[in-house]
Amino acid sequence: YLRRCRFGQSTQDVAIGLVPTMGALHIGHLSLIERARQENNFVIVSIFVNPLQFGPNEDFQQYPRQLDRDRQLCQQAGVDAIFAPAAEEAIPDLGNASSGSSMSRDAPSTAVVPPESMTSVLCGRFRPGHFQGVATIVTKLLNLVQPNRAYFGQKDAQQLAIIRRLVADLNLPVEIVGCPILREASGLAYSSRNQYLTPEQKSLAAVLSHSLLQAEKLFKAGERLSASLIAAVEAELATVPAIMPEYVELVHPNTLIPLENVEEVGLLAIAARLGATRLIDNVLLKNRK
Ligand code: PAF
Repeated sequence: YLRRCRFGQSTQDVAIGLVPTMGALHIGHLSLIERARQENNFVIVSIFVNPLQFGPNEDFQQYPRQLDRDRQLCQQAGVDAIFAPAAEEAIPDLGNASSGSSMSRDAPSTAVVPPESMTSVLCGRFRPGHFQGVATIVTKLLNLVQPNRAYFGQKDAQQLAIIRRLVADLNLPVEIVGCPILREASGLAYSSRNQYLTPEQKSLAAVLSHSLLQAEKLFKAGERLSASLIAAVEAELATVPAIMPEYVELVHPNTLIPLENVEEVGLLAIAARLGATRLIDNVLLKNRK
């Protein structure tokens, strides 16, 4: 499991932790890095704004790119190496014959296609092709870096479930570690896309986490019916007219199959638009026996 690597004159056992990111690092990313540092003795952060996971009308061009700042944050956080490939290096389809690959590029590259049942719900309904793009790049990153462990935030709960499933289905030799959502004092989950929000929008956006908290309270008080828990979230979201919900769904956190009742565990997830910004948030509802 552990690799033996030569550091200078000595040979040591090395466990590699990978934190895949698209850059514009925030406190949420730093918490993944911290966890990776605790569990491994070599930490790599990948920074790549993956064009495969953006739809034609999405924010690929505007997505914040702050490599110098990210590099400093990584250094302060004790990251050992950053892997920040150029787009044509990571995805030769985007370049031309001089991509450096010996493969003929007269056909599109191989794609990783997660199960339809996992990509047709939640964000997948609104972002066709997104999770195929994520699954393809994550598979490439795992193969290139060959980490022992890779760290992903629970904020992207659907992404996390799909990556766990692809690692199991393709027998990839890596442990996937899911890490808790980090929130601002208002409750707003940290996200690189929060940079798009004005200060006023940021305070309105906190309604997402408040609505989930309402549902969690109901759940703790014994409510198990998905329709009632979803209705509680929708009612709270409706108090802020600027928030345009895309979905509020309750699914099983591993299979992403919609649940009528939460017996053991459920993932209550929201996506909503606020102006031009798309926000997501979620909570895991666990039945304490
Ligand atoms: O969560 C992200 O930042 C991205 O989806 C990921 C996992 C780095 C793949 O591009």
